[in-house]
Amino acid sequence: MNEARFHGRYGCRFDPARVVTPAFVVDEGLLADNLALLAQVKQATGCKILLALKCFAMFSVFPLLRQVLDGVCCSSPHEARLGREEFGREVHSFAAAYSEHDIEQLAVTSDHLVFNSFGQWQRFRSLAETTAKRTGRELKFGLRVNPEHSEGATPIYDPCAPGSRLGIRRKDFRADLLDGISGLHWHNLCEQDADCLQRTVAAVERNFAEVIPQMAYINFGGGHHITRPGYQLDLLIDIVGRFQDRWGVQVYLEPGEAVALNAGYLVATVLDVVNADMPIAIIDASVPAHMPDVLEMPYRPHIVGSGEAGEKAWTCRIGGLSCLAGDVAGEYSFDAELAPGDRLVFTDMAIYTMVKTNTFNGVQLPSIMRYRPDDDELVLVRRFGYEEFKTRLS
Ligand SMILES: Cc1ncc(COP(=O)(O)O)c(C=O)c1O
Repeated sequence: MNEARFHGRYGCRFDPARVVTPAFVVDEGLLADNLALLAQVKQATGCKILLALKCFAMFSVFPLLRQVLDGVCCSSPHEARLGREEFGREVHSFAAAYSEHDIEQLAVTSDHLVFNSFGQWQRFRSLAETTAKRTGRELKFGLRVNPEHSEGATPIYDPCAPGSRLGIRRKDFRADLLDGISGLHWHNLCEQDADCLQRTVAAVERNFAEVIPQMAYINFGGGHHITRPGYQLDLLIDIVGRFQDRWGVQVYLEPGEAVALNAGYLVATVLDVVNADMPIAIIDASVPAHMPDVLEMPYRPHIVGSGEAGEKAWTCRIGGLSCLAGDVAGEYSFDAELAPGDRLVFTDMAIYTMVKTNTFNGVQLPSIMRYRPDDDELVLVRRFGYEEFKTRLS
């Protein structure tokens, strides 16, 4: 957690009392700080950087991101359409498998289509080519390879774990079926540093040395925690630069987290404080509905002004308002007892949150807000209501 980035008496740059909760608030200044680091990588290496929409797809800030990033990487026809309509630069698509319907849609929205198997490549090449040609766009094709090199990521986030369906393994790779393929793609990192990338690149070079020179581009995937304090930026720049020089290819990175890391908050209000085996503050947000990664990863999100249990004067559990017994963010301590009406500000809530929310229990979806530090303006981008709950049912 980068406490240094949290400013002033609120622990964030805006006054949480001004936020109608629950709400995600993205600080445009912090987003711009991240973009400056990514721009540095691009400038030093000439690599291209895509935003992984699966992580962060708040399209009202795309005009800001577009100033630095080269495009988006997408996992579905819907993401690709959003990327085409709202981002407007390169659109790269990859999914573990496509249906015919997916191909028909992706071929009109994507610039690069990456296949996860030679079977799908052979089956859909001509449909993708003819569909793209009809709409007058140039569509390039890539293949996802499995580096067969794990970097000790959390197993559910490790695409190189045993049994992984993601990426073609060396033994299954068909060097005779590369006509029409101009790129290789892999993804095997999760919140990791450049030394993990260095070992991964070495593994890919070992396995695919004869294939890489036939490619125009190589996509190193996401999971590079570039904007985390202490990340080895120089090493990343060195790896990317050397790789491009050695192989004469264009390198792409497609981070999600690094783009919006520590740039957003979830602001909630305490609704009640009950006493069970310990005090429990219940908030107007829900862990499984609004920050599901807390349960999935799992991890304990940071709350501005809080300490570990027992560290500060008053310790309590923070729980959500849904029926799930496990709707709990964790145990925290505060300088004083919490009371109904108090605001809690969860940090690092821009990534893998807005894209994952659901309306379990019919809970209110958090509003989406932008904070502009230059004029201390909190802009309400979107408020959700009953319609968003109802329209997903029938
Ligand atoms: C293929 C691919 N690219 C990019 C990403 C983005 O990763 P991150 O948000 O960790 O940078 C992911 C995340 O799962 C991914 O699967």
